[in-house]
Amino acid sequence: MQEITIRRPDDWHLHLRDGAMLQGILPESARDFARAIVMPNLVPPVVTGADAAAYRDRILRALPEGATFEPLMTLYLTEGTDPADVAAAAASGLVKAVKLYPAGATTNSHGGVRDLDKVMPVLERMAAIGLPLCTHGEVTDPEVDIFDREAVFIDTVLSPLRARLPELRVVMEHITTEEGAAYALEGGDTLGATITTHHLIINRNHLLVGGIKPHYYCLPVAKREAHRLALRRAATSGDGHFFLGTDSAPHVDALKEHACGCAGCFTATNTMPLLAHVFEEEGALDRLEAFASLNGPAFYRLPANETRLRLVKSAAPHAFPEKILTEAGPVTVFNPGFPVHWHVES
Ligand code: DOR
Ligand code: ZN
Repeated sequence: MQEITIRRPDDWHLHLRDGAMLQGILPESARDFARAIVMPNLVPPVVTGADAAAYRDRILRALPEGATFEPLMTLYLTEGTDPADVAAAAASGLVKAVKLYPAGATTNSHGGVRDLDKVMPVLERMAAIGLPLCTHGEVTDPEVDIFDREAVFIDTVLSPLRARLPELRVVMEHITTEEGAAYALEGGDTLGATITTHHLIINRNHLLVGGIKPHYYCLPVAKREAHRLALRRAATSGDGHFFLGTDSAPHVDALKEHACGCAGCFTATNTMPLLAHVFEEEGALDRLEAFASLNGPAFYRLPANETRLRLVKSAAPHAFPEKILTEAGPVTVFNPGFPVHWHVES
């Protein structure tokens, strides 16, 4: 038996949804994580400070008895967003970041941003007050191949934006490429990058070879193996630019196993055991705490958690639930495709 104790981790990119889905899946995150940056792409999206306050209340009401999980709220940036509303929501402590979805890039992003010029007053205000911008870093130009959309976003959107507004604090969400990891590493202290659990485990072959695997489809889509390996190097490096954001994104099975399946991998249930497996494989268990529990709070200027999480490796593989049954329907838990011997000691 082997074990490791780390400060309780946080999830710096999480989809909690609403209603019956929220009720069904929230315990999966609250079990291991102390806090999470909660994505605002509901229908309709969380646009104003008032929307975020109401959503936060719904999350807190859905928490299991005795859970101490703290939702860190975000706003969905639109071309109509009011800089004063953002600043007030940040000043009150309610909102910890604003999310940029290029319109059409992913699930419920149609209300996102088409023209960055239109949101410059909001971004300037955020730069002035130090409020981070979380970016879904993919261009939506139909001419750009889906596997190139992240690299093109860095060159044509992110890099010019950061040159124009160098004080703006930016999180490159769910990076999936060698280019993304390299850009984040050189980004100075105004830049961070989240990495998901699943992008450390699957490449595009896992998604497509031997039949399409809808539960491995997410956005940004998994790339070729060289990129997965670059992400593993970044996550296990201990470098402060990189921290965990699972992008755990539940959809009911009926909408995943579908002719036009939704994007999202649901990893809330088994992320910490999977990360222990990955970090052990990379000979970097001693850097798991930096990635999952220290680098994120440091970027967000929050204290690291004082409580601890213990991961234990047993001789026999650990069985995780295959599905989480919610009142909205069953949600399939990410299956890494290999036996996992680690589990969180409860
Ligand atoms: O795979 C994804 N699912 N990527 C996203 O950007 C959005 C998310 C969702 O909300 O389902
Ligand atoms: Zn996401």
